[in-house]
Amino acid sequence: MLRFLSLVGLFFSLNIATSSASKSYRMANGDILPGIGLGTWKSAPNEVKSAVKEAIKVGYRHIDCAAIYGNEKEVGEALSECFKEGIVDRKDLWVTSKLWNANQAKEHVIPALKQTLSDLQLDYLDLYLIHWPVRVKHGVTFPESGDDMEPFNLEETWKAMEEARELGLARHIGVSNFSIEKLKKTLSIATYKPEVNQVERHPYLQQKALADFCRKNGIHITNYSSLGSRDRPNKPEGEPILLDDPTVMAIAEKQGASPAAVLLKWGLEEGASVIPKSVNPERLKQNLEINESVTLDSADMEKLRALDRHFRYVDGKFWCKEGSPYTIESLWDEPSTVSEEL
Ligand code: A2P
Repeated sequence: MLRFLSLVGLFFSLNIATSSASKSYRMANGDILPGIGLGTWKSAPNEVKSAVKEAIKVGYRHIDCAAIYGNEKEVGEALSECFKEGIVDRKDLWVTSKLWNANQAKEHVIPALKQTLSDLQLDYLDLYLIHWPVRVKHGVTFPESGDDMEPFNLEETWKAMEEARELGLARHIGVSNFSIEKLKKTLSIATYKPEVNQVERHPYLQQKALADFCRKNGIHITNYSSLGSRDRPNKPEGEPILLDDPTVMAIAEKQGASPAAVLLKWGLEEGASVIPKSVNPERLKQNLEINESVTLDSADMEKLRALDRHFRYVDGKFWCKEGSPYTIESLWDEPSTVSEEL
């Protein structure tokens, strides 16, 4: 019976529903994850409040947050004002946040989640994710050297995430930046399986094997850095600019749409949800309207598929400083040379 119920759950977790704004995804318990969300990574505290409010006003129903983004208090002010002003009901909004790497010990997970809830002025999250399969010492924000790092303890942290779910503090739990290998380990110890894996994904990093694995195992993928994250700090010189890719630009021109719209629509067509970050009202609106503004036919999808070059903008090297227990190979469970082939 249990096996039958979990198979039913698997079917429903992949079921795609449509709503007026965009595609959306039905989770095993019937909750709806809207396909287009607003990313808040890199949104400055003094800009994020108006961006979140504007986004909700124009129809966004999915907001992606994280404690490490340093702006959850301002996001919380926007959410609270939207509820008070009757712009949206809490039950109609999907809010994701993420556990920072310094709080992965079992005694720190629930307090970290409670802090996020207090900052966001919410009673529960729709989704709570382990931000990285990487642990830093409690009290460290970002590691300056390998001495600030500790080995990742998947079982300890996942069990605490399950407790968060049981306490009703998070309706769904999942992971971020997890490889197939790490997902397999999680599934082997989980009472509640991860329902979402949030990873970098765009035409230069299509991660087909990971996407196939997730599809087969009822794990939804949310793509981050869909637009190539041009505004992130410490970018290496000369990295390829996704929004300027000639193939993407040609498809956009043919459609009278923007390159951003083509990139986001590619993500939706691949079955993922997307969380483009913007603090610009015009672009916020544009990014939500991609279902109306772009149709990718099979020839367009074929051309976009050919752009795959396994290139990571967020390559994780910052976790692999000298003396760290992590290497690029162990972080992604793949050879380190792939990102450097460009
Ligand atoms: P802005 O916030 O000024 O709109 P990603 O989601 O991959 O991290 O990318 C975010 C970056 O893309 C930000 O610099 C954001 O700038 C920019 N951006 C967001 N939407 C669009 C769009 N429709 N066209 C061009 N750039 C965009």
